[in-house]
Parts: sequence; C-alpha cells; structure tokens
Amino acid sequence: MPGTRTLAIIKPDAVGSGKAGKIIALLESNGFKVRACRMLRLAQPQAGAFYEVHKERPFFAPLTAFMTSGACMPLLLEKDNAVLALRDAIGATDPKEARDGTVRKLYAESKERNAIHASDSDDNAEREIRFFFSDVDLLSAMDS
Ligand code: CMP
Repeated sequence: MPGTRTLAIIKPDAVGSGKAGKIIALLESNGFKVRACRMLRLAQPQAGAFYEVHKERPFFAPLTAFMTSGACMPLLLEKDNAVLALRDAIGATDPKEARDGTVRKLYAESKERNAIHASDSDDNAEREIRFFFSDVDLLSAMDS
C-alpha cells in the first residue's frame, strides 16, 4: 500500500523571493497536512549527501551550489498516496513542461531553479524525512 508521508523542500530560489508561504498554501489546498517543517541553510557536504544519487550527473555541482546558496525549507507532508500526490501537485522538473496550477508552473524560474523538491518513492521519502527530521521533531508533530 502506498505510504502517507513524503518530503518536500522549498528551495532557495523560492524562499529567497518570498514564495514559501504561497507554496505551503497551495500544498494545503491540494489536501496535504504539514506535519513538520524547518528553515535551514544546507552546507556543501549535506547537499552532496542528500543528492548523492545524482553525483555522476553533469548537473550535480550546479545543483549542490544552488541548494547551498540560501535558506531552504524541508517539509514533512501527509496525505494518502503522498509521494505520487506531491509529484502531481508540483509538476514537471522543467516549469515550461509543468501542468497549469502546479507549484513549478506557478513559482519556478527554470529547470535548475525549480522552487521545490519532492521525494520520488516511498523508500526515498523515509530516507529524506530522516535526513531532515529527528524522532523528537516527529513525535512533537504527532501531538499537533
Ligand atoms: P529535484 O527534484 O530537486 O531533484 C534533482 C534536481 O536536479 C532537480 O529537482 C532539478 O532541479 C535539478 N536539475 C538540474 N538540471 C537538471 C537536469 N538536466 N535534469 C534533471 N534535473 C536537473
């Protein structure tokens, strides 16, 4: 059965240009509940570890440079079939190809500065949630 949790990261382009609130509102209007959130600036080793799966790709260096360029906001989101539902709500990697009404169509600048990350499988969602949120954060989120 598909899981009910996934991870989003509002990326530095969107946080820096003041779009984080609008993006969270759009996600909530798509039926997601925010169960935990943080604002932080990734250091290079953290960004490299998070995107390790892409380390042989030509865009790895610019991607990690961008992701460390300013504050980002990891969000733990809950909804039925969360991984697929979030990928549908954010749209294609390249905003030029994203469906109308999606986060990237509305708020992304380009394929490289594309406003938001979303986990691509349930296994990666659990790994990415653990990357940003400790058990203590998660327990307190459950109380709310
Ligand atoms: P994200 O969902 O965070 O996962 C990997 C990121 O690499 C992706 O979003 C894009 O922002 C970024 N990226 C940069 N260039 C490319 C590319 N040519 N193909 C795919 N992803 C790219």
